[in-house]
Amino acid sequence: MKILTFKTAEEIGEAAGKLFVETVQKKDKAVLGLATGATPVPTYTYMAKACDAGEVSFKNVTTFNLDEYCDLPKEHKNSYYSFMFENLFSKIDIDPANVNFLNGNAADAQAESDRYAAAIEAAGGIDIQFLGIGRNGHIAFNEPSDRFTNNAFKVHLTESTIEANSIYFDDVPMPHYAMTMGIGSIMRSKKIVLVATGKAKAEAIRTMVKGEIDPQCPASILKAHPDCTVILDEDAASLL
Ligand code: PGA
Repeated sequence: MKILTFKTAEEIGEAAGKLFVETVQKKDKAVLGLATGATPVPTYTYMAKACDAGEVSFKNVTTFNLDEYCDLPKEHKNSYYSFMFENLFSKIDIDPANVNFLNGNAADAQAESDRYAAAIEAAGGIDIQFLGIGRNGHIAFNEPSDRFTNNAFKVHLTESTIEANSIYFDDVPMPHYAMTMGIGSIMRSKKIVLVATGKAKAEAIRTMVKGEIDPQCPASILKAHPDCTVILDEDAASLL
């Protein structure tokens, strides 16, 4: 696990964004695993600027997002589908046919998980996977648990996650369930980039880096990945 620390969110966005841009520049049909939340936004801003400047084209890129809420229409402003179009896809030259999301409203969660795993495999696997981290050490919506998961599944979100994300919901209550990629799907990515900013993430980062590999801190499994870069600000790195 390689750990880089920067002073500002913009510097973090540039450092993480460059890793994605380089991957797309090097490989004709790159496959990107993408994340939502506040932390990834500066990275998406960097990627959009690089596209605008003609440094990179996303025309042949395929994307797979990590997770999606259940019981929320895809078009709702708080869906992760809407988030991605607002923060990235509307600002780059990606073909909307090449963007993939878990369907949080699928009637059969197992069939939806199988569909997503098959689609990732058919695309050739994920070349570079973007991750944030929850205050409780979650990655995607893999909450602290007794075991590490494999492919995508339907998850009951923890109180900590509901508390952290409910500030974004003003017209409907925040969903308590989501479909999320599992730990196995994340770990099969060729490269992983995790970003974290702010004091609220410091404890989760300490446990991830210094603790044992333990499903009670799902992010701790990343220590077993051969190519994982962790990009932090000084607050998030303050307990290391
Ligand atoms: P945040 O979410 O970037 O909004 O803090 C990260 C996460 O919960 O994975």
